[in-house]
Amino acid sequence: MSLRVDILSAVPKLLASPLNESILFRAQEKKLVQIVVHDLRAFTHDKHHTLDESPYGGGAGMILKPEPIFECIESLQAEREYDEIIYVTADGEPFNQKIANELSLKSNLIILSGHYKGIDERVRSAHGGLITRELSIGDYVLTGGELAALVITDAVARLIPGVIGDGESALSDSFQDGLLDAPYYTRPPEFRGMKVPEVLLSGNHKDIAEWRDEQRRQRTIERRKDLIEKHTIGQ
Ligand code: ADE
Repeated sequence: MSLRVDILSAVPKLLASPLNESILFRAQEKKLVQIVVHDLRAFTHDKHHTLDESPYGGGAGMILKPEPIFECIESLQAEREYDEIIYVTADGEPFNQKIANELSLKSNLIILSGHYKGIDERVRSAHGGLITRELSIGDYVLTGGELAALVITDAVARLIPGVIGDGESALSDSFQDGLLDAPYYTRPPEFRGMKVPEVLLSGNHKDIAEWRDEQRRQRTIERRKDLIEKHTIGQ
């Protein structure tokens, strides 16, 4: 089963390069994931292709109009059933690895990225609009939702079996079991006086696994104590 992600944007060019290089590009070539970008402007009908207007009641910034968004999403829904219609926004639910895991098991997702100041509230979940889920990638404000849509697409796509080379490596990532990842080294064994820890050169897989577990725990305590408090395995 493969995943299809439809990303809706007012500035689709912002999405091009990350989707057309490296791992995400190869994943699409291998048909493990299908990522389709839609230009919301194609769903406007006036002479000037107006996508945004100033907000009723005044205030700075422009707001994406509801009609092109509804029209674009409804045209996609006419083709297939969507598991989630996600709007990326700084006031959404905080995105994390657990949500990435969950989304990677779905078949069809829409991700709507806002631009300018925001989108007309009538599109959003609270108003019974088309959106089923609102996600934020962190407590800061971006110029638009495109980068957030890419972050979510990337985190989800790499969990699909076959997308990253090593079947095990997605499971051993930081966060996957609530701990940060261990440090890694490669050749040479000594670089500018800094040596690779002896145990990693020992060839003893049991010792290496124990050392890595310990490093993960230590690193998480040092850097992210909040994660240790939530972590239940192996304490
Ligand atoms: N759009 C603007 N800021 C954002 C954020 N932090 N997360 C998701 N979408 C956004």
